[in-house]
Amino acid sequence: MRSGGRVNRSPVKYPGSKRLILDKVLRRLGSGKHLVDVFAGSCVVGLNADFDTVHFNDLNQDLIAFYKLLKNDSDTFITELESFFISDNNHADTYYKSVSYTHLTLPTSDLV
Ligand SMILES: C[S@@+](CC[C@H](N)C(=O)[O-])C[C@H]1O[C@@H](n2cnc3c(N)ncnc32)[C@H](O)[C@@H]1O
Repeated sequence: MRSGGRVNRSPVKYPGSKRLILDKVLRRLGSGKHLVDVFAGSCVVGLNADFDTVHFNDLNQDLIAFYKLLKNDSDTFITELESFFISDNNHADTYYKSVSYTHLTLPTSDLV
């Protein structure tokens, strides 16, 4: 839920995100008890809607696993990410060609 007029930003940049038309979408949605954020994508709608509870739904299981990891074990996620923030990786060539994400393992066993 939005607080103090500030937008809760999504942790991911997402193609088709409703971020740019968020005010319009939120006005249409109004407020209530329970929102199902279908096609959640970046989750920016549900993260800013004025509802008591929000159920995020998306077909993309990797995306849902990512959000679950953030919610349930953000320390592990941050620790994994820290390994990328070294001076050797701070060059465009390395960034675009050599950074490998293959050693990251997202939990998939508890997907809905
Ligand atoms: C344009 S994006 C959603 C944008 C989102 N409202 C936002 O603001 O970030 C569309 C999303 O719908 C999801 N999607 C496509 N077909 C779906 C389906 N049948 N059921 C649930 N999610 C679906 C895709 O995985 C994708 O994340």
